[in-house]
Order: sequence, then C-alpha cells, then structure tokens
Amino acid sequence: MRRKLAAGNWKMNGLSGALAEATRLADAHPAPRIDILICPPATLLSRLAGALKGSAIAVGGQDCHPADAGAHTGDISAAMLADAGAGHVILGHSERRADHGETDEDVRSRVRAAIAVGLRVIVCTGESGAERDAGETLAVVGAQLAGSVPDGMTAKTLVIAYEPVWAIGTGQVPTPDQIAGVHGFIRSRMIRRFGEETGQGIRILYGGSVTPDNAARIFAVADVDGALVGGASLKASSFSSIVRALEASV
Ligand code: 13P
Repeated sequence: MRRKLAAGNWKMNGLSGALAEATRLADAHPAPRIDILICPPATLLSRLAGALKGSAIAVGGQDCHPADAGAHTGDISAAMLADAGAGHVILGHSERRADHGETDEDVRSRVRAAIAVGLRVIVCTGESGAERDAGETLAVVGAQLAGSVPDGMTAKTLVIAYEPVWAIGTGQVPTPDQIAGVHGFIRSRMIRRFGEETGQGIRILYGGSVTPDNAARIFAVADVDGALVGGASLKASSFSSIVRALEASV
C-alpha cells in the first residue's frame, strides 16, 4: 500500500508570519493517516524545520544545485537543504524549467545530488496547453520521466508529480479521465523501468489548481497518491481541508 502524501509548495511566498500557518496546520493534524510535507522558500526552511520539530509535518526544499559546493552565487546545495532540516526536495518544477531553463539532464543531476545526501525527491512532469492540444501529453511526460529520473531509484526515495502546466494557478483542472490516463501511464513507465515492486510503490502526486472544493474528486482517481499543492497550501485552513480529503480517500 502506498502511503498518501499531501505536499505544499509555497513557491516564492512567505515571510516570517507564514510560520504560524504551518504550526496551525501541525496542531490541526497531530497524528495524520497520511504524510504531510511543506516546501517553504529557502529563507524559511531552517526556522520552519525548528517550528515543526516533533510534529507530523515534514519540510522540504524547492530546488537544489547539482554540485556539492562552490562558486555558484545564489544557489543552494542538497547538503545545505538537509543541513537546514529538509528531508525532501521538489525538482524540475515547470516554473524552474521555464524560468531557469532547466533541462531534463539538469533535473537528473539534481536528483542524483539530492539522493546522495539522503533527501527524498519529488520530480515534476507535465505538458503545456499547446502540447496537450497537439495530442503530445504522454510523449512529453514520457520523455521527462526518461530524462529527469536517474537509474537506481527506489519507492522510498522517489515521488513523481504530474502537474499539467496549463492547470497550475489557473483554476483549470483536467477531468478525472485525463488525470487517470496520465497517472496510469506514469505507473506503467515506472514499472517498466524499475520493476513491479518498486514501480507499484512509487507515489504519483497530482498538482495544478487543487483546492478544498475539487480535492475529493481528484483523490478518487486511480493512481493518484496525493497532491502537490501551490496556492491552497499557503493557508492552514485550506491546506487542512485538502489533507482531510486525502485522509478520507484512504
Ligand atoms: P497551484 O496549486 O497554485 O495551481 O500550484 C500547483 C503547483 O505548481 C505546485 O507545485
């Protein structure tokens, strides 16, 4: 059985005051039946890890540099994330791919660096609106999986997120059938690549305009093992509703 995961990606949002949202969430879910993760901006990581110590909520980074250390102004290494209290890192988010030109090869080297220091990774995939319209969704996601995920991954270290770019921050959500089609495809690719046991154990999250209103419908879809939530993870009240919907789906 795959344990469900509700992951919040705060993106470039959150000053010191946001720490209270996370502790409110922790207070509301002292013993959740699912995994809960918050990925704050790097500036809050250390303080958030401290504030959530002893709670059921894990913290993670949003990106890391592939090198261990060195002359890379503004970048953060995987070891720095771990040292700040992160247990996970999101890699290859479409906003990193678009804003910073990250290629599948870049993502793959980041995954290797993260795994080397003991972080668990969430590798993001997803097609643009134009790619979906052109019928290229599975080809795009398949190429991202092949290029961004290195060999030797385990169900413990790897989570895949399917985040259609056209659904992120737009309020547009794919139909359950569309989500099922892509998640089933990702599942089959993971089994083909890593074998039945590992492939069945890897969690696949849906991301893109998940809200308290649509969460239950999304969580009812086969092979949806949780969500990667942007905007609705910023407030404890809305993220808590999504956590509850995921718990109810177990
Ligand atoms: P929204 O939930 O704001 O659409 O963001 C999704 C996302 O990109 C999470 O990584």
